[in-house]
Amino acid sequence: MQRFDRQGYLTLDGMTTPGELASIRQVYDGCIAWGAGLRGGGAVDLTAVDAALVDAGRVLVRNPHHFFSALRDTQYEARARALLEQVCGGGFQLRETYALYKPPRWGCATPWHQDEAYLPSEGQEELVTFWMALQEVTVESGCLHFLPGSHRGEVLPHHPIQEDPQILELDAGVADLSAAVACPLPAGGATVHAMRTLHYAGPNTSNAPRRAFILDFARTRGPVRS
Ligand code: NI
Repeated sequence: MQRFDRQGYLTLDGMTTPGELASIRQVYDGCIAWGAGLRGGGAVDLTAVDAALVDAGRVLVRNPHHFFSALRDTQYEARARALLEQVCGGGFQLRETYALYKPPRWGCATPWHQDEAYLPSEGQEELVTFWMALQEVTVESGCLHFLPGSHRGEVLPHHPIQEDPQILELDAGVADLSAAVACPLPAGGATVHAMRTLHYAGPNTSNAPRRAFILDFARTRGPVRS
């Protein structure tokens, strides 16, 4: 897949079946309610997603597959692994999963960043990320945007954002983002990107939740790549 090498990302359809998508989505909504409860320090009510999100522009649950078996060994993961092998070669392991939820109408934006900026500077890992939409995702609901070719450059300077110091934002003026490409997706579609590919997601201004189920694969950097 030369396009991945050239652009630093791909847009993919049909990462799972309608049946699996429905079962993932059902478990996912419970998982997000649970994560929102943890974040707020309150009681966890798996039926109260919206109530639990009063103060959260987004909810991120790390490694939900540890807690919910329906998120393990999915067809989505199998297809991602097969594609990864084809595009980047072997040696990758599933590193982490994330449920990243943005509530209707006011889910916040995810600032421009490179995922590698989050890794320790001495990190020897190569990371590739799959981001699957559990419903249609549009520009309005906060799809990902990528800057083609940015994976070929260096890791650029980032800073923590005020609202949440755990979230990094690319410093102003260090990259020309005018050629960025929005990647809307159908339900069950996904994007895959390299760890230096600059990306951003807009706020969710639609009337529906924006659910993304993310798989991070990693391998030790070295001579594996052919
Ligand atoms: Ni990212």
